[in-house]
Amino acid sequence: MIYFVTGTDTEVGKTRVSAGLLAAAAQQGASTLGLKPIAAGCEPSGEGWRNEDALALMAASTVALPYDQVNPIALAPAIAPHIAAKEAGERITPARLAASMPRVAMADADLCLVEGAGGWRLPIGDGMTLPAWVAQEGWPVILVVGMKLGCLNHALLSAEAIRSDGLHLAGWIANRIDPNMSRYQENLESLQAMLDAPLLAEVPYLEQSTAADHLTAAVQRLTTTD
Ligand SMILES: Nc1ncnc2c1ncn2[C@@H]1O[C@H](COP(=O)(O)OP(=O)(O)OP(=O)(O)O)[C@@H](O)[C@H]1O
Ligand SMILES: [Mg+2]
Repeated sequence: MIYFVTGTDTEVGKTRVSAGLLAAAAQQGASTLGLKPIAAGCEPSGEGWRNEDALALMAASTVALPYDQVNPIALAPAIAPHIAAKEAGERITPARLAASMPRVAMADADLCLVEGAGGWRLPIGDGMTLPAWVAQEGWPVILVVGMKLGCLNHALLSAEAIRSDGLHLAGWIANRIDPNMSRYQENLESLQAMLDAPLLAEVPYLEQSTAADHLTAAVQRLTTTD
């Protein structure tokens, strides 16, 4: 099963939650693969640019692929990808993205997660946004909601946009990135009442530990439905 993982914003926990889902699935005996098609913010290595999200997803995956199949578009500066691509003399297009996907490995994995970049409406250049490609692929979407003040607006707008782009919102995950958020429970209940998609998991604020322990039931749901 293949899912596209988006978030209410950048830095809301897409990678942390994706790695946790992959690890929880592996604990249940599933083969797993995490991909980061577009990464802006890379460090040089002897073999090319390396992005920490892609490396984290690789570390959490049971299926081993070469780096450039996990992260085909690796851009050095940590800025909006279409601006970084333009500066590098590259273009990000739905056709390029589609051609760069490791299709066989994706189809073979019991759970494959494709992490987006930023939030839902991510420009890729030439007036296009990333959902134009996701819509071509037709993957169901998992929305990671970074639980903090302002997340209600971001979550509701994201869900509305995902649906208006013709995609299925498979569910959302409440990720507690702000340990001091006031009225967490009331915010959670507001989203449950208004998002019209299943709450797959609540991930508490975690200092170091993996999110996997909190995602076992979510994985069961994601690998047995759709
Ligand atoms: N539940 C959590 N508890 C504590 N810290 C968290 C939690 N979820 C995410 N974080 C931290 O918040 C930061 C952002 O998380 P992460 O990198 O997963 O976000 P992202 O949405 O993937 O960001 P990007 O847009 O850069 O891909 C990281 O330092 C991560 O460890
Ligand atoms: Mg990330």
